[in-house]
Order: sequence, then structure tokens, then C-alpha cells
Amino acid sequence: NTPLAQAAAIRSRKGGKPIAMLTAYDYPTARTLDEAGVDILLVGDSLGMVVLGYPDTTHVTLAHMLHHGEAVARAAKRALVVVDLPINTYDTPEQALDTARKLVAAGAGAVKLEGGCDKEAHIAAITAAGIPVMGHIGLLPQNVLKEGGYKMKGKTDAEIAQLHADAQAVAHAGAFSTVIECTRADTARSITEACPIPTIGIGSGKNCCDGEVAVISDLVGAFPWFVPAFVQPRAHIAESITEAAQAWMRDVQGE
Ligand code: KIV
Ligand code: NA
Repeated sequence: NTPLAQAAAIRSRKGGKPIAMLTAYDYPTARTLDEAGVDILLVGDSLGMVVLGYPDTTHVTLAHMLHHGEAVARAAKRALVVVDLPINTYDTPEQALDTARKLVAAGAGAVKLEGGCDKEAHIAAITAAGIPVMGHIGLLPQNVLKEGGYKMKGKTDAEIAQLHADAQAVAHAGAFSTVIECTRADTARSITEACPIPTIGIGSGKNCCDGEVAVISDLVGAFPWFVPAFVQPRAHIAESITEAAQAWMRDVQGE
């Protein structure tokens, strides 16, 4: 099952069984999610925030992504492993391809990068080399400093038109799917209807896309200090760790 075949299988899920993608940054989490049946393991650059303790994703380096991508790749037997291109590693199409090749050498099956029309040539350069690419449009966390915060997208007609153009550009460049982050639900739905490749939503309404992605730390309550409003935690790992540590301390130190 080659990455190209895996990506083609995801591509063929347009309008079909919704695609389930979760982030993973380490071997045990990736192995657990792979065995649970998740379709795609995303080594997201959210790594910088939920694992490495940086305030945003602009601090993430290629070395970070290679290190964690390798760990996740060692765990994945079935799921497609997608690794984010970090900021400042895909400024030109040539640099994008060079970075993608390094991530593939580390075990990535596919790569993801942020941008639409402005990144069409970058995506095309990578896909032309036989490396599957996932797009990422809407709110682009790597632009947080440029834009002065995280802002919902698709509020004005001009923004909605731009999002549609971005989705078409990403598909035209050969991406096998695209993330849509933090757009209005009706915008995500209309992009999904118009876009020939599967859309994978986050913070973009319920059942508006061809799949959903969540940050594993949000899903299991492993990063309780900041939880986006759209997240529904399904477990409370940080509380469990606190309880286990305190029970162990009572044992070691006495009541
Ligand atoms: O880095 C990440 O976790 C992501 C997802 C939120 C799509 O890019
Ligand atoms: Na990301």
C-alpha cells in the first residue's frame, strides 16, 4: 500500500464515507490511533503549541517536523501519514519540493502546506515529483503574526470568493484533499460542493465537509490551558495524569 495509493483512496472518498484525520506527534499516540482505525495521521505543526510549548506555530522548524514525523511513521501500519511543511520552508516551489523530499525521507506519506492561489505552483511542484499533497485553506495559523491574531474566514463576499478560488487552485495543482480551517459553515459547505477533491474541516461547521480533522490534544483533554471553542473533548487526560501523579505521591510520601 504505497502512499500514492493511500492518497488516491482518500481522494476517492469525495462525497462518500467521511474522512477521519487526527494529529499525532509521537509513537504511542500514533500507534494507538492507527490501531483505532483513523484514516490519516497528521503530524501537524500544531506540534509547536500542544507539545513543544511555543505560543504559536511560527516557531516550528523542519528539524522538529522531521523528528516527530519519524516517530509517527514508525508507528503507522495502515493510516496515511501526512506531515506539515513548517513556516519558511516553502517560500518557492523549488524550496517546497526540497522540503517535501526531506519529510518523505523521514517517513511522510504525504505533506500538507498552508495557502491557496498563492501556493498553486508550490503544490504542483511537489505533486509533479510524485509526492501527494494536502492543501490547507481558510484560517492559516502560520499567518498569525502577519494578521495579528486568529480570525474566522468567509465573512465577506470578497473573502468567500477568495476561499472558492483557493480551493480550486489547490485542486488544480493536484492536491488529493484540502483542510478548510475556521470558515463559516455555509461557506465550508459551498466550497465542498464546488471543489472536486475531498475537504477536511476544522472549526468550519458540523457535517459541512467530506471529513473532519481534530488536534488529538484537544480531543483527549491533554492541553487544558487552551481549548478552541469548537472542540468537544472526549476524554480528560490531563486530569487523569494529575490524579495518577497525586495518588502515586500519597503512596510514596504518605498521607
Ligand atoms: O497543525 C495542525 O494540527 C493542523 C490541523 C489543525 C489541520 O494543521
Ligand atoms: Na498545521
